[in-house]
Amino acid sequence: MKANEIMEKAENYVLHTYNRYPVVLDHGKGVRLYDVEGKEYLDFAAGIAVFALGYGNETYDQTLKDQIDRLIHTSNLYYNEPMADAAEKLVKASGMDKVFFTNSGTEAIEGALKAARKYAYLRDGHSDHEIIAMNHSFHGRSMGALSVTGNTHYQDPFRPLIGGIRFADFNDLESVKAQITEKTCAIILETVQGEGGIYPADPEFLKGVRALCDEKDILLILDEIQCGMGRTGSMFAWQQYGVKPDIMTCAKALGCGIPVGAFVLNQKTAEHSLVPGDHGTTYGGNPLACAAVSAVFDIFEKEKIVDHVQQVSAYLEKQLDELVEKYEFLTVRRGKGLMQGLVVSGRPVGEIVQQALKNGLLVITAGSDVLRMVPPLVITEADVDEMIEKLEKSF
Ligand SMILES: Cc1ncc(COP(=O)(O)O)c(C=O)c1O
Repeated sequence: MKANEIMEKAENYVLHTYNRYPVVLDHGKGVRLYDVEGKEYLDFAAGIAVFALGYGNETYDQTLKDQIDRLIHTSNLYYNEPMADAAEKLVKASGMDKVFFTNSGTEAIEGALKAARKYAYLRDGHSDHEIIAMNHSFHGRSMGALSVTGNTHYQDPFRPLIGGIRFADFNDLESVKAQITEKTCAIILETVQGEGGIYPADPEFLKGVRALCDEKDILLILDEIQCGMGRTGSMFAWQQYGVKPDIMTCAKALGCGIPVGAFVLNQKTAEHSLVPGDHGTTYGGNPLACAAVSAVFDIFEKEKIVDHVQQVSAYLEKQLDELVEKYEFLTVRRGKGLMQGLVVSGRPVGEIVQQALKNGLLVITAGSDVLRMVPPLVITEADVDEMIEKLEKSF
């Protein structure tokens, strides 16, 4: 089928909730994607921070093929080995204690919010607790996650959302303090805000929020769905801050392409929150998804992916800083590791993305004016050079 026929068919049958770029992707190899006409794209989007290992990693692919032949799905009514393995690896990598597997990021957020409300319910003997979330945050599209997403554009058509959510300003501790009441049970934030425009948390802010939570027995939920799994140069971004969440959410690169998410709890929260009957999912923790998670952790360790991110991201930052020096319309570079944003002023950032696409480069936007790069974690310095060349051509 030709590209235009596929696009037409998709538009005929798929609900129009995305304005898609006119490209039909067909296959990938390493950090490159190919469309149905054979055109090559250097991928600095990675399916929005998903495909950390690049396309066609043999160990990953073979693990999935073997698992398909063995067992794809069984119910959470029974045990399966990949789930136990994946949970152990996630616990060890995070230094946290218990895992609940979901199918997506937004479901990981739902579970985290429920765990926090149940914790406070058991502590206080009543419900009606509040959660503080951040302006310009993004946590997903299901009703709970949308309710803590600080963006009225996404929220307004769907009100009423879940109650008891208060918003504070990211990186402004006083604004968080101002939202605390005797009903507050949790504070949720992204360690590095992604969709909102690539804003890393200030160390003093995150430490301050942690201290507030400790003082008032409030749970700290850190959303690592986009910034976690090695992307910022540590397995989880919070590990660079000397703070630890009570609940962490993961997805995206956790399965590197297989849809899987998780919320991970510390012992205190695990012991005093969800029990049988409180939460569940048909697919969450299924053997195929968990075989993927397990393989991802093995490959991270064997291929020293986090060390690699630290090295290559230093190079990427330097090259991006040079662009900011060179072009007046690029005002700031923001980010951590391989989660980078260039703030574009006086030009529609979407046009740069379109032009890059024509030049064989996939980059995406964040917020209204940020050019976002979240490439596979296995990119090399040569890939960075090629990206810069293609980007400059697109300017
Ligand atoms: C920080 C963050 N949280 C949650 C989500 C929602 O994840 P999903 O799209 O898998 O539901 C996203 C998705 O972009 C995200 O970036």
